Amino acid sequence: MATSYFTASSVDGFIADPEATLSWLLSRDIDPDGPMAYQRFMDRVGAVVMGATTYRWVLDHEPGAWPYGVPTWVFAHGDVPRVDGADLRVVQGDVSAHHAAMAEAAGDRDVWVVGGGDLAGQFADAGLLDELWVQYAPVALGAGAPLLPRRVELRLEEVARNRDFACARYTVVRPTGAPA
Ligand SMILES: NC(=O)c1ccc[n+]([C@@H]2O[C@H](COP(=O)([O-])OP(=O)(O)OC[C@H]3O[C@@H](n4cnc5c(N)ncnc54)[C@H](OP(=O)(O)O)[C@@H]3O)[C@@H](O)[C@H]2O)c1
Repeated sequence: MATSYFTASSVDGFIADPEATLSWLLSRDIDPDGPMAYQRFMDRVGAVVMGATTYRWVLDHEPGAWPYGVPTWVFAHGDVPRVDGADLRVVQGDVSAHHAAMAEAAGDRDVWVVGGGDLAGQFADAGLLDELWVQYAPVALGAGAPLLPRRVELRLEEVARNRDFACARYTVVRPTGAPA
């Protein structure tokens, strides 16, 4: 079981544009059955975690149809709207206080950190992020929500082209002596 941050990004490292729209992404061509595509990644996922902004984006863009059939953790300081059919835990604070419960819910499957970038960084800071998967869309945005606003050492494990996207999978290199 791994804790993996899987996301799409512009080539200059933004996962949303300044207006928090994804038109720059959703207009691109990808083969859902092709290499390193979302569906194959999702087949391995047993728990999902996201920040409050991403959660609200999902609610706004998939009204009435919660897309994830696995337990989902939402990090938020305040209240967030609830949605029928979602197995939700709304939590806050130190990600390491919640990771064991996520891993237990996921069982032998993976924990997917959906985003945003700072939340993924919090998992990396805590030594709890194992993998980064990025699907790079062929566009530079200049500004927006950052992919991973931290210094995190990575090892490139896999690259593939999927139509418009350059897809890469990295493992997080932990400092010597850090927990595996
Ligand atoms: N390209 C893609 O595939 C992709 C993937 C994911 C997301 N996105 C987009 O990227 C953007 C990401 O937004 P974002 O940068 O604002 O990140 P986010 O992680 O979605 O949301 C950040 C918010 O999460 C809450 N939060 C984060 N860590 C917390 C903690 N430890 N404890 C309590 N609350 C915590 C805070 O909310 P409050 O303090 O407000 O409660 C914080 O303001 C969104 O527009 C999203 O739709 C794109």
